[in-house]
Amino acid sequence: MAGGGAESWPDSVATPRLLLRAFGHEDVPDFVPLIGDWGGARWLARVPHPYGADDGREWVELAARNFAERAALNLLAVRTDDGAPIGGIGLQLDRGAPGRAEIGYWVGTRYHRVGYGLEMVTAMLVTGFGPLGLSRIWAVADPDNRPSQSLLLKAGFRRQGRHQYDFAARGRSLSAPYFEITAAEWPARREGSA
Ligand SMILES: CC(C)(COP(=O)(O)OP(=O)(O)OC[C@H]1O[C@@H](n2cnc3c(N)ncnc32)[C@H](O)[C@@H]1OP(=O)(O)O)[C@@H](O)C(=O)NCCC(=O)NCCS
Repeated sequence: MAGGGAESWPDSVATPRLLLRAFGHEDVPDFVPLIGDWGGARWLARVPHPYGADDGREWVELAARNFAERAALNLLAVRTDDGAPIGGIGLQLDRGAPGRAEIGYWVGTRYHRVGYGLEMVTAMLVTGFGPLGLSRIWAVADPDNRPSQSLLLKAGFRRQGRHQYDFAARGRSLSAPYFEITAAEWPARREGSA
């Protein structure tokens, strides 16, 4: 078990407008076209492109395995009012570094700029520092990915230099901006960003 020190992980998280919940096979036709859109996928380090139904089915299985092994919490974001999937978010625990996890997320292009991204990230910080018992959450963004860098700062992350990072699915390794936030600083930063 990779574990973050938590006994039991939530399999869903409610935000003001969204429900973050486990991916299911029935969701594949809905989320594949969203994550398959190159406009968003180009920024993602580990999502293949093109992205088809087989990729979606494999992802559903992997997310379930990661959850069972407490290796990662990967959730689909669906809108509460109509059930429409709009994005995805995950916390992947660092192997060999207990209490640390990488956060990753995407929002379908047609749902951008209405605050869903910030809402999802904020909810996952609450979950990560709460039930998952994490002490540090980090992210790396492509140097040209301004939207994601702005979002991370707005969510309370600190930028801390650059890290060499493998954007494996894009076939390149880059020196990329690194962001992190700790459980100790989260309450004050959360207040500051409210
Ligand atoms: C990054 C991403 C998740 C933002 O999602 P979103 O729902 O559109 O973001 P929000 O509406 O919650 O915006 C929150 C903040 O993020 C920043 N932001 C979001 N989109 C932005 C843009 N196009 N340009 C500049 N800043 C942007 C702003 O600071 C914004 O706050 P504001 O609206 O008060 O200005 C979305 O653009 C996306 O999915 N991109 C592709 C995948 C990706 O980059 N994932 C992250 C990999 S590190």
